[in-house]
Amino acid sequence: MKSILGISGSLRQGSYNSALLREAVRLFPDRIAVADINGVPLYNGDVEADGVPDPVLQLKRQLADADGLLLATPEYNNSFPGVLKNTIDWLSRPSLDIRNVFHGKPVAVIGATPGGFGTVLAQGAWLPVFRTLGSRYFSGQRLMVSGAVGAFDDQGGLTDETVKKRLEQFMQGFIEFCGSSSDAV
Ligand code: FNR
Repeated sequence: MKSILGISGSLRQGSYNSALLREAVRLFPDRIAVADINGVPLYNGDVEADGVPDPVLQLKRQLADADGLLLATPEYNNSFPGVLKNTIDWLSRPSLDIRNVFHGKPVAVIGATPGGFGTVLAQGAWLPVFRTLGSRYFSGQRLMVSGAVGAFDDQGGLTDETVKKRLEQFMQGFIEFCGSSSDAV
């Protein structure tokens, strides 16, 4: 089973964060699968009352089955992007399912930006979210990719060898963390 579910918080074709996840898959093809959040609608309690939409149900099942969740988060206005928060919000509904989907789930956050601070504030903004959901946050390492324009080629391939090495080390650490004891934080 591909034990880690990767989700990019960017919908755009040339996304650096999606490219970072693709590289993680290239490095660990048997361990990580990337989910598509394009079909996730905007959260609306009225829609939920009529039934959680199929793309959300499918993603929830994927996450419940996974041994870990890896977010590649862009930083928007010093925080996380709405599309990714919207996805996590849907995945937390109905709240009775939080236990099954998020509780004790190993979660790691990485991110890339053309800017100089490597998504540090977006990554920090995720902390209270996963604390609320009772997940196990991987804090053993951090991966913040700044200056992303120079780190990827025009096809979205990661060309920066230092970042590649750090991603590999981060993934090794997170894979180990996913396999370790599962006390919730
Ligand atoms: C940004 N960007 C940005 N970058 C950053 O480092 N800190 C920030 O606070 C912001 N704020 C911000 C707000 C909004 C609304 C947008 C659209 C963009 C730039 C951002 O990092 C850049 O667009 C990345 O390329 C987005 O990630 P993807 O799409 O490449 O994965």
